[in-house]
Amino acid sequence: MTNYRCFLTALALIICLPIARAEHHEKEEEKTPLGEEMSAINKAWRQIKKQAEDVSQNEETLKLLDQVIENCKTAVDMVPILSEEVSEDKRPAFIEAYKKEMMKLDKQFESLRSALEAGENGKAQELIKKIDDFKKKGHKDYKPEDD
Ligand code: HEM
Repeated sequence: MTNYRCFLTALALIICLPIARAEHHEKEEEKTPLGEEMSAINKAWRQIKKQAEDVSQNEETLKLLDQVIENCKTAVDMVPILSEEVSEDKRPAFIEAYKKEMMKLDKQFESLRSALEAGENGKAQELIKKIDDFKKKGHKDYKPEDD
């Protein structure tokens, strides 16, 4: 019986500890306003990538993309948290450069929009790859490194 109790206690701990840790982790990492926009882009972007090859889903894909474009336009006028670590004299140029990159991202989303509207799903998939590369570069230059 004691053994059984020990077993149950251990089992409860094994199940509950990771959940408690995950919750703690979430609270610890509060998102910045720009982080919120990026997360919204990310969620829709994942879905867009899943269905981009399927012409029959273009109408739905375009709706998702419109949402992404809206978030992107909002993000253009935001300030990356990393700018706080840039010296004051270089900060305006850093923010301006970020802005320009985000405007380029917006343009690429618009090109993707045109490709999907034209039913050119092959081209759309190529553009998606380019956008993913662009994202990598953008994160390398403007996003704090993950710890
Ligand atoms: C498809 C394109 C992109 C996607 C899906 C994406 C996604 C994300 C995600 C998931 C985060 C983390 C959000 C969080 O949990 O806090 C993030 C953060 C960030 N991204 Fe992007 N991103 C994209 C493009 C870009 C580009 C092109 C740039 C820069 C020109 C950029 C700059 C940043 C910055 C600066 C952050 C950190 C947030 C902050 O500074 O407050 N992202 N992004």
